[in-house]
Amino acid sequence: MLSSDQKRELFEKAKSVLENSYAPYSGVHVASAVRDDRGRIFTGVNVENASFGLTICAERTAVTGAVAQGAKGIEAVLIMSSIGAIPPCGACRQFIAEFAEESTPVLLATQDGIESETTMGELFPMAFGLRQSKKGC
Ligand code: THU
Repeated sequence: MLSSDQKRELFEKAKSVLENSYAPYSGVHVASAVRDDRGRIFTGVNVENASFGLTICAERTAVTGAVAQGAKGIEAVLIMSSIGAIPPCGACRQFIAEFAEESTPVLLATQDGIESETTMGELFPMAFGLRQSKKGC
């Protein structure tokens, strides 16, 4: 359960990096802030590329940053976009699920505030995860 202060912290951290989003092709600026199992906050932005398929979403840059600094789990995710509150894409759902629980909160925001809150379980039921991928090994 996230407190309102913890939600506010995720929101402010995401907002502080939204201007760093590199989105010259789509014009859609996205920022993300994740809270790790130690209560640390990591941010990320979408980084597009002239070779379109190489574009990486904000959520994935935030999660990779957290893992690189030793995060073992993700306890909350906030996604902020310049075009309204958007849910994470399918690839990001799979990516976040690797480090999250079904109960992990996902907050959807614009620059003006948090618009809605859901969970990984709602966004990504029956996720394929470590347990399944290890079967047969
Ligand atoms: N994008 C994200 O950063 N996160 C998502 O979950 C959805 C899409 C980015 C990718 C691309 O740079 C832009 O939004 C438009 O698709």
